[in-house]
Amino acid sequence: MIDEAFFRHIVAGMRNGVLAYRRDGSLALINDEAYRIFGVTATDADLGRPIADVLRDHPEVVRVLVSVFDLHMLPNRAELRLRPSGKVIGYTMALVRDDAGTVIGAAMFFKDLTRVEQLEERERLRDRLAAVGEMAAAIAHEVKNPLAGIEVMAGLLRRKIADAPEAHTLLSDIITEAKMANAIVQEVLEFVRPIRLQVERTTIRQAVHSALQLADSKARRGHIEVDVRVPEALPEIRGDQHQLAQLFTNLLTNAYEAMNGKGHVTITASTSHADDGAEGRDVVIVEVADRGPGMPRDIAERIFAPFFTTKAQGSGLGLAIVRKIVDAHDGGIDLRTTPGEGTMIRVTLPIRGIEE
Ligand SMILES: Nc1ncnc2c1ncn2[C@@H]1O[C@H](COP(=O)(O)OP(=O)(O)O)[C@@H](O)[C@H]1O
Ligand SMILES: [Mg+2]
Repeated sequence: MIDEAFFRHIVAGMRNGVLAYRRDGSLALINDEAYRIFGVTATDADLGRPIADVLRDHPEVVRVLVSVFDLHMLPNRAELRLRPSGKVIGYTMALVRDDAGTVIGAAMFFKDLTRVEQLEERERLRDRLAAVGEMAAAIAHEVKNPLAGIEVMAGLLRRKIADAPEAHTLLSDIITEAKMANAIVQEVLEFVRPIRLQVERTTIRQAVHSALQLADSKARRGHIEVDVRVPEALPEIRGDQHQLAQLFTNLLTNAYEAMNGKGHVTITASTSHADDGAEGRDVVIVEVADRGPGMPRDIAERIFAPFFTTKAQGSGLGLAIVRKIVDAHDGGIDLRTTPGEGTMIRVTLPIRGIEE
């Protein structure tokens, strides 16, 4: 025999909202999850009070509750949007009968679907991005060849007219522009291409080392000094070495471009224990800090969006690619920036990394 207390504990511990009421509309039972979803503060006096009273902020719910005694078919898996919070709940109704079969009340079981909805929305967005990405990839691919052609032919022409200095300058400009366009096309391709990680044991030191060289070929470093503070004893992580190098290359490139040829960039790495969720996990934290101009808040909020750039020749894809790589490694990214002082971008990567 299960005693009454046990029943009460079942209801209290349920991860659904549960709410039951008598025919006269008085509240017979409600659990914590129901209070939470409705955003109502529990009081001792709630039981026995009219549901219209307890749920006075939710007339749309009350309407469903009271109409249930007149229905032939009870709603099963119906949905309802709560006016005050915008939350969406999914609910099922059931009648409560006594031993003689007479209806003495009803119950509602419900769940907060807001998060489910958000996931669906994100899924739709991903589909849309995938379609746009495919198109971008196709265009980028088509543009790449003629661009290479322009560059090569301009180079040939330059050699043929070695004795016309003015035409020479023009042709050099054409080549420079073609190279720049090609770099953008390259970035677009990188951004839209789905990431397939080649997971191996690697170190942050290695990734940073490659990034320093790659960044030099992408941006003018001038007299900028880079301070690398990555301890040799830092544990290996599981990740894609090339992608990680690419990640830090993009951060360094931005730092160089922000500082205009002089100043200091610091790359710091350390380990930590991130407390995310039940167990938490060991992570490596890498910070790339510059003493460039920093960013006002409204810009800082948008920098990870694809194609967002404040540079005349920018593609706006550097940080979008960074984010994509971080996501693929199940890591995190955030930044601190102060106008006039500089920018610090912090990347957090799980040491155990991700499975292939
Ligand atoms: N270290 C930084 N200092 C100041 N601004 C930055 C820095 N990094 C990024 N930004 C801003 O974020 C924008 C987006 O960067 P990114 O995605 O790399 O594209 P791009 O470099 O092509 O503009 C830049 O145009 C710039 O405004
Ligand atoms: Mg950039």
